[in-house]
Amino acid sequence: MGASCAEYIAIKDFASEVVLLDIKEGFAKGKAMDLMQTASLNGFDTRVTGVTNDYAATADSDVCVITSGIPRKPGMTRQELIGINAGIVKEVSESLVKHSPNTIIIVVSNPMDTMAYLVHKTSGLPKNKIIGMGGALDSARFKYRLAEALGAPISDIDGMVIGGHSDKGMVPLTRLATRNSVPVSEFISEERLNQVKEDTKVGGATLTKLLGTSAWYAPGAAVSALVQAIACDQKKMFPCSVMLDGEYGLKDISIGVPVILGKDGIEKIVEIDLNDAEMEHMKTSAEAVRKTNGLLEY
Ligand SMILES: NC(=O)c1ccc[n+]([C@@H]2O[C@H](COP(=O)([O-])OP(=O)(O)OC[C@H]3O[C@@H](n4cnc5c(N)ncnc54)[C@H](O)[C@@H]3O)[C@@H](O)[C@H]2O)c1
Repeated sequence: MGASCAEYIAIKDFASEVVLLDIKEGFAKGKAMDLMQTASLNGFDTRVTGVTNDYAATADSDVCVITSGIPRKPGMTRQELIGINAGIVKEVSESLVKHSPNTIIIVVSNPMDTMAYLVHKTSGLPKNKIIGMGGALDSARFKYRLAEALGAPISDIDGMVIGGHSDKGMVPLTRLATRNSVPVSEFISEERLNQVKEDTKVGGATLTKLLGTSAWYAPGAAVSALVQAIACDQKKMFPCSVMLDGEYGLKDISIGVPVILGKDGIEKIVEIDLNDAEMEHMKTSAEAVRKTNGLLEY
């Protein structure tokens, strides 16, 4: 998925350089070479290079994306990955910060909210510079399911998923979803809308079952959108997993809420008025994230 992310960044042609790093000998170099051989065909000038565990090559990066670690196999939860991925994410983030002390880190490895929390606790970076990617992907999957249910083009649909990046933790905001500013409930029944909600929550698991491993196109595209918002100082709003200090009644937890992204990373946390049911779902979601955070050793 890291390679898909690099591919979308390169194709959008907003970054001067992308460095791929992997622990597997020669792998990142091969991916980078393959990608660079698409440059004349796809028309981009971004320079993509790849290295094996050589963090010096990543020095002075503006944005670093962590996708290292193991993905889910069919039937697994994201939480089950913690044992292996926590060690990898801690080591990778520390090495990145050593060479790019002013960087912004986007954490993608699962269980993502807990991995983002770990980076908050161990990297020494300020909280506006640590962003967990989950909500941008879950929202894209939500819009896909809504468009399918409404029989509408996806460009007509707006919607957002907040909360934890897990099957039960996601909070798809069906009440606020619209088709060209008209509530989607005007077009489909409550029962169909609930089905959309459930299909969205198991979006990742559905693909893992079909593909035999974790998806990569939509996660890669979602990460590239966050990187672009930061690199191009777009001030775009995405739900991201960020460290909260009282917002949404939560503290000392990284979980998905809407934020504005720009050159400083998280430039603002947007507090929207949730109804009682949404707030209750957010609370249960946070409890589950805290439980996984409790398994961390750092
Ligand atoms: N947050 C999200 O929305 C989201 C979406 C999809 C996947 N994921 C997660 O992202 C992670 C990666 O998924 P994937 O499908 O790309 O897996 P993958 O197996 O295709 O790629 C992971 C890569 O990490 C490398 N790696 C392992 N340890 C490393 C280390 N110490 N240093 C550098 N590289 C290392 C591996 O060699 C491998 O190439 C998984 O944890 C997956 O669950 C998150």
